[in-house]
Amino acid sequence: MQTLNLFNFMDNDLNISYKQKLTYIDLFSGAGGFSLGFDKAGFKNIFSIDIQKDYCETYKENFPKHNLIQQDITKLSESEIKDLIKDIEIDVIIGGPPCQGFSIAGNIGRQFIDDPRNRLFKEFVRIVNIVNPKYFVMENVARLYTHNNHKTRKEIIDDFNKLGYKVESEILNSADYGVPQIRRRVIFIGSKISGNIQFPNISHIVYRTVKDVLEDLPTLKSGDNSSIKNHKAMNHTDQMLHKMSFIKDGGNRENIPLSLRPNSGDVRKYIKYDSAKPSITITGDMRKVFHYSQNRALTVRELARLQTFPDNFEFKGNSSSAQQQVGNAVPPLMAEAIANGIREMSEIDNQNKVLFNKKYPKVNYIGNKEKLANWICDYFPQNTESIFDAFSGGSSIGYESKKRGYRVVSNDILKINSYLAKSLIENSREILDEKDLNIIFSGEPIKGFMYKNYSEVFFFPEECMELDLYRKNIENLSSEHKKAIAFTLIRRSMIRKMPYSRFNLNWEKIKQLRDEEYSYKKYKRKRAYHNESFKSHFIKNLTDYNNAIFDNAKENQVYNEDIFNLLNKVKADVIYLDPPYTGTMNNYFGFYGLIDEYIESKKLEPFKNDFIDKKSVLALFDKLFANLTNFKYWFLSYNSNSYPSKNDLINLIGKYSNEIQIIEKPYNYQVTGKEKKSDTLEYLFIIENNRYKGNKK
Ligand SMILES: C[S@@+](CC[C@H](N)C(=O)[O-])C[C@H]1O[C@@H](n2cnc3c(N)ncnc32)[C@H](O)[C@@H]1O
Repeated sequence: MQTLNLFNFMDNDLNISYKQKLTYIDLFSGAGGFSLGFDKAGFKNIFSIDIQKDYCETYKENFPKHNLIQQDITKLSESEIKDLIKDIEIDVIIGGPPCQGFSIAGNIGRQFIDDPRNRLFKEFVRIVNIVNPKYFVMENVARLYTHNNHKTRKEIIDDFNKLGYKVESEILNSADYGVPQIRRRVIFIGSKISGNIQFPNISHIVYRTVKDVLEDLPTLKSGDNSSIKNHKAMNHTDQMLHKMSFIKDGGNRENIPLSLRPNSGDVRKYIKYDSAKPSITITGDMRKVFHYSQNRALTVRELARLQTFPDNFEFKGNSSSAQQQVGNAVPPLMAEAIANGIREMSEIDNQNKVLFNKKYPKVNYIGNKEKLANWICDYFPQNTESIFDAFSGGSSIGYESKKRGYRVVSNDILKINSYLAKSLIENSREILDEKDLNIIFSGEPIKGFMYKNYSEVFFFPEECMELDLYRKNIENLSSEHKKAIAFTLIRRSMIRKMPYSRFNLNWEKIKQLRDEEYSYKKYKRKRAYHNESFKSHFIKNLTDYNNAIFDNAKENQVYNEDIFNLLNKVKADVIYLDPPYTGTMNNYFGFYGLIDEYIESKKLEPFKNDFIDKKSVLALFDKLFANLTNFKYWFLSYNSNSYPSKNDLINLIGKYSNEIQIIEKPYNYQVTGKEKKSDTLEYLFIIENNRYKGNKK
């Protein structure tokens, strides 16, 4: 026997761990089957409305904390609706408006919608229009789907389209969602946010049966009562009891001897439920459908179980009203499946919205791939899950990959680049707030490492002292990620103040270019930003950096090592190689080593394996390719002005793989302080690693 634990979900304040509950309004709420499913899925009710007294009694009894309005919906004015929802954002409106106008068939005009008997459908549209929810779910009988040659359904969809909703409709069968009943209903789901509409996935291939859910209830004879709420058998006449006694489990009127058999009539009457199957559709009148083994019709409780209402859900009003209420309800379990689908839709929509809004901040890194990032990432093969951005520099590829949902591993030999990656790639939620700013900018300038070593080398002495103060204060921030963001913003400020944005100019040249009058005479630009304070640049960029931080639900990771130490340690589907392009401006230690010295507060030696020396670079590439066995695909960026040449690279890579694709694109890097080079081709080598053993993460 199946236990009924599944049904015990009455608590309206379920302790669900969703960050924020989605909100819903239930129109034509009836006894509350739809509401119950949405509550169970963690949605929060804002208000419900129904006109009928008994339905409302039942609803109030079972949802004491909901705001139920007992009123004719056509009388609910726009201002009343607005008062009810206040400033709350409504995620979804649900409901099944009663529509009676199916009998009219015809081909001309908008006959369904214009039929006054379907005015309640129009009410649903009216309220969606006023409330403007993100989604709606409208339920109705299955025959609406094909009614009038599908025209009715199209008219309905058309009405919602006009309000800006994308709408899809499907016939769902409740048995597919674990309800022990075949109940087909058309469900319209509308979304204002995106085209991504999800109907719930089928959860039950093996259907639950009538016996599964009725067997454990106390046996009752005609007219008997029990201590279980709503489990009271109706009184049948002796004549009726005699007739039904002939009908077998799953049988029909054919089992009744001819002399007693009722004349032909509704085939859904004078039958017994088939105990081994899901029930037939429960309607408001099941008085002539009998228990599979007991000689009587089902009690309200039994019908409620076939609709998946829990046992503590009490139906008010007399027995025939209670049966109506049960029969009219959306089965809570199916409602819950629909609600879960809506929640998933909303999560995907939020994620897309978040990612759509995420913008790579102004980094200004020499050789940065910001403008090529989409082009490169578009080539990542299907089924790719992880990317190793091995020479991350300004992190533009790591950032785009993170946005696309990949797990990103990032590395650069320069400490400041690893901090940039820690801020934007590894970090998923920490930002710098006012408290942090107070920490960073408190106190008086001090004479530290920068003052002692770089006064009048790269900055004025007072500026060096300021930097020394901030360096000391950053140590007091509460986490590694906050420190990383602070260094990244100090980097941005230093770069903004530095002519040509790199630390390999001499002081005389720097002073000259920072002289606004000179700059104006020579370049027609004052470049006042070189003379703005570090603090001012820091604050100006803060919001863009804070806003760029997001979570892509992956464990992203950052290293700060010579790549040659990592190749056997890191595993990923794709390794992206963007080494310094030999023969072009590529002395990265020369450009940015100063920032690493500032962070470490000590003088540093330039790093090895720097791809600067033309003589040794072929051997360095060879060593690189020889060690890429952990990665299924290698993506290598290079360009036509660099050394080795395209053909040299092909020969070199050919030692390790015979699957090389090269994609070319005309592209010029904008190098500050240099004339634009012309007619450069950017290459993207895509190599499938023949030696890859399929060793994942
Ligand atoms: C062309 S830049 C990368 C640009 C980056 N893709 C972007 O979009 O900003 C090359 C990077 O390689 C780093 N690098 C150079 N030699 C390295 C090595 N041996 N190991 C790791 N990183 C290295 C440099 O610090 C530099 O940031």
